[in-house]
Amino acid sequence: MLIDEIKQGNMPEHVAVIMDGNGRWAKQHNKPRLEGHAKGAVAARQIVEAAAEAGVKYLTLYAFSVENWNRPKDEVSGLMSLLLKSLAEQFDDLIKNNVRLLTIGDSSLLPQDVLLQVQHAIARSSSNTGLTVIIALSYGSRQEIVNAVKNILQSYKQNPFDIENFDEEKFSSYLYTKDIPDPELLIRTSGEIRISNFLLWQISYSELYFTDILWPDFTKEDFYKAIANYQHRERRFGKISEQVKS
Ligand code: FPP
Repeated sequence: MLIDEIKQGNMPEHVAVIMDGNGRWAKQHNKPRLEGHAKGAVAARQIVEAAAEAGVKYLTLYAFSVENWNRPKDEVSGLMSLLLKSLAEQFDDLIKNNVRLLTIGDSSLLPQDVLLQVQHAIARSSSNTGLTVIIALSYGSRQEIVNAVKNILQSYKQNPFDIENFDEEKFSSYLYTKDIPDPELLIRTSGEIRISNFLLWQISYSELYFTDILWPDFTKEDFYKAIANYQHRERRFGKISEQVKS
């Protein structure tokens, strides 16, 4: 089994996923877009399980971008309801499986009921020590970076710090992802080869994996294949192959 094979190898600590293709899946099956998203939520649940079984520590799922607020009203409210429904139906099970939930993004834009339920779920799972699932919700990477810069300027105004010693680590501590290691692997489904304003700072050295499979069709086995592919890559971080091998 592929999972047994990949467990022998170098497991990425953090995998990030752009879950793309729900709309096209729906179109192919002559169904409304929201059915594609509902099927996508089932796939997301499977991949949470797959990540936990493989021993991945952090899984970030791009569920809703800041740009997605501009989609038709019905689709936005449908996606919000789906999120509430998924949380309500699956949360007890996730808690039992020691999953910790976090979100990244601009939560001030979320409807009050979604915000409250998400906050409740985060609080209830905060002492869990297994897989951390990070839902990128109302997330945009450029907005995250601008927000970080604003907060840095604010802290400087209140308490001027030594600019010379301001470094990458310090900058990272102002991002939504502070305390979360950068993803080693980024997966995007549906054949689109772009990043779409996702974790721009954090994926500087990530391995990128693109597959034509539409998100609702993406299975545990496909997730393991992506990890197996990652395990065969040589990560050089700007060095040459011989240096990495030694
Ligand atoms: C992209 O497909 C997908 C989204 C914008 C939403 C992702 C949401 C889910 C998978 C379901 C809810 C998630 C959780 C974690 C419960 P698209 O609509 O852009 O597809 P298209 O490009 O084919 O139109």
